[in-house]
Amino acid sequence: MTTVAVVGYIIAFALFIVGLMGLTGPRTAVRGNWTAAVGMLVAIVATLLLPGMGNWWLIALGLVLGTVVGVPAARRVRMTAMPQMVALFNGVGGGAVALIAWAEFRDTAGYVAEPLHVAVASLFAALVGSVSFWGSLVAFGKLQELIATRPVTLGAVHRPLTAVALAAALAYVVVIAAGGTSGWLIVGVLLAAAFFGVLLVLPIGGADMPVVISLLNAATGLSAAAMGLALDNTALIVAGMLVGASGSILTNLMAKAMNRTLVSVLLGGFGGAAVAEADGPGTGGMVRTTGAADVAIQLAYANRVAVVPGYGMAVAQAQHAVREMADLLTGSGVEVYYAVHPVAGRMPGHMNVLLAEADVGYEALKDLEESNSLLPRTDVAVVIGANDVTNPAARTDASSPIYGMPVLSVDASRSVIVLKRSMGSGFAGVDNALFTDPRTSMLFGDAKESVASVVEELKAL
Ligand code: TAP
Repeated sequence: MTTVAVVGYIIAFALFIVGLMGLTGPRTAVRGNWTAAVGMLVAIVATLLLPGMGNWWLIALGLVLGTVVGVPAARRVRMTAMPQMVALFNGVGGGAVALIAWAEFRDTAGYVAEPLHVAVASLFAALVGSVSFWGSLVAFGKLQELIATRPVTLGAVHRPLTAVALAAALAYVVVIAAGGTSGWLIVGVLLAAAFFGVLLVLPIGGADMPVVISLLNAATGLSAAAMGLALDNTALIVAGMLVGASGSILTNLMAKAMNRTLVSVLLGGFGGAAVAEADGPGTGGMVRTTGAADVAIQLAYANRVAVVPGYGMAVAQAQHAVREMADLLTGSGVEVYYAVHPVAGRMPGHMNVLLAEADVGYEALKDLEESNSLLPRTDVAVVIGANDVTNPAARTDASSPIYGMPVLSVDASRSVIVLKRSMGSGFAGVDNALFTDPRTSMLFGDAKESVASVVEELKAL
């Protein structure tokens, strides 16, 4: 490796790490993202300076295509569609790794003359990269609602078929590692891994999707690191390990937040059985509706108010109106805090990002644990487009598909106001008894419009 490339890589790694540190808080996240992106640019330039770089036209074409597709897609994506975008981009990374492993197989005539560790790392990269690509495509399809978001299975044969696909992929890997050189063998690895990836993600649905997306993310990182080992490319090893390690930590945190083990997520089932009947109009109890004027009075006379944001706040882009409402209340002596559930919305930190965008002070945000200790001492909990993360069935109904998922105990507060458009269910597709609780009033309508009306009423008081 040339000195320039080595120096370039060291600068790139430093930028990756500083960038990742920036991602630990909403205030520094944008800068962190840019820092890591500059690091990636430095790594690309350093790689292009390596001796033996060949087909410049093809490289330029790849760069142009990536830029033409990637930049407008990233600029145009709506915040609420971010998870599927992440799933897609992550999948493309895994697919690229699998293709490199395939190209290396062809270049080295089946890795025969390569040391064993190169063959093993390349085969790992091919298998995991392909699983990640196809699994991420299914995750994308589910989040984009191109395919059913609920768990989908092929019935009793699903698990045996999944096991067969994995066994077939591993069998091809073993044959290649033992000296097999036929090009069909590596195609076999990629195809069997593809089937495994699709069959693995199809039965996962509802509230488990965040965990799966970060797991696939980690898998892409690990496959890239393996490919780096095989190609003896430090940049790929370091970048892959950073993605693999941070993705694994995130997967673990998400699984903990959902009170689920990784095995139970992968075996599917969450948000499953009850989904079909859950699209109906609710739990059958009595629904109390309210108006903006009554809500304003209730809030103005409270001592402590909890704002519980959810996916609907993101859809309605109500965060600025919400902050205005909270500011008015705080200005007249009401204590306001934001009860933020770790998987509220559709991506990790979704609510934190939106609230930071609306300049909500970080100290006003309370995590799940702190919120649950404050909620019983809260006069009014205003639920803004949140549903699953407030569902008491997760605590009380062992037959509920979301039973065991930690939720915000909104029903412990003295009164609850829920802002949403209908009695429809949330992402997990299950009914929510909170909406028919005697202490709950529903303010139906788009969250932004509803909050804006409450703000007007508060101003008029
Ligand atoms: P959800 O349970 O998905 O409920 C959101 C609610 O917002 C819906 O019931 C919907 O009811 C309402 N809504 C939609 N648009 C609205 C609008 N314009 N104005 C007012 N309300 C609106 O949301 P949540 O409580 O935030 O829970 C998140 C769910 O997504 C969890 O199940 C979680 O596991 C899953 N998930 C999370 C992530 C991450 S990492 N955060 C990723 C993927 C999935 P109406 O239609 O009646 O208005």
